Amino acid sequence: MSNLYSNFFSPQRMGEANSLEYSTLHEDDVDEVVAFMAAHFYPREPISTGLHMTYEDNKEWIHSSARDWVKSGVSVVAREPTTKKVAGSILATILTRDQSNTYAKALTSPKTKVKTLHTVLSVLETAVDFFARYEKVNRILELAMITVAEEHGGRGVGKRLVQESERRGQVLGCQLATAQATAVPSQRLLYRLGYESLYTMDYTTFEIAGDHVFDMDRMLGTPSAKVMARLIDQEVKK
Ligand SMILES: CC(C)(COP(=O)(O)OP(=O)(O)OC[C@H]1O[C@@H](n2cnc3c(N)ncnc32)[C@H](O)[C@@H]1OP(=O)(O)O)[C@@H](O)C(=O)NCCC(=O)NCCS
Repeated sequence: MSNLYSNFFSPQRMGEANSLEYSTLHEDDVDEVVAFMAAHFYPREPISTGLHMTYEDNKEWIHSSARDWVKSGVSVVAREPTTKKVAGSILATILTRDQSNTYAKALTSPKTKVKTLHTVLSVLETAVDFFARYEKVNRILELAMITVAEEHGGRGVGKRLVQESERRGQVLGCQLATAQATAVPSQRLLYRLGYESLYTMDYTTFEIAGDHVFDMDRMLGTPSAKVMARLIDQEVKK
């Protein structure tokens, strides 16, 4: 086994996920977490890179959306215990039968790129009608954006962030967790946690008004986005 391989997968590295501090995101944390995502999410997430979208393009809506998401009480931040530096974050929200979408609002944005992004996200968000599919489900935990700094990657931090958000969602009455997983690492992470894929958007063939929107040279090796879900309430599983 090469040194690189053994370092990456050593129990010590995996154990590091447990040495971080995980707390519910509050409004006061939003600017810091969005700045963290500007450095660690936008340059490494395929839809952003494939649409040539930077944090600057997303700035307006991400700050206001993050504030909304934080209110749900299911968004989580991981910090280094001594320095309190952000190591990872998950932005999530709760969907209900009355409020069943997150992205429709931004479809009216005057910025073309933002509109394209939200068209893509809306297609993914509405591809599976979970409320119709599961009669007993009234509250859905929607995992929106997950980010782990590269220096903390591959140590279970992403997995733990999903579990922390799920736990909060369960306490708040969510019966199902969903995610629009746009990158291979997040798809694999969710498969490992028992999520199943219910819809696939092929990046190569996806079109808006007859135009292919993704620059396939910049999709970071990810061929498709997947809508993934897992029941998190034992009662609904019966
Ligand atoms: C996706 C991301 C959050 C993963 O975080 P992470 O802390 O490295 O993930 P974990 O260590 O918890 O890994 C959990 C599982 O994910 C999978 N995984 C993680 N990184 C991977 C990679 N680079 N390639 C393939 N699979 C990967 C593995 O299956 C792993 O489980 P295993 O080791 O038991 O097989 C991180 O890579 C990231 O921030 N990426 C940039 C932003 C992004 O694309 N977010 C997702 C958009 S939906």
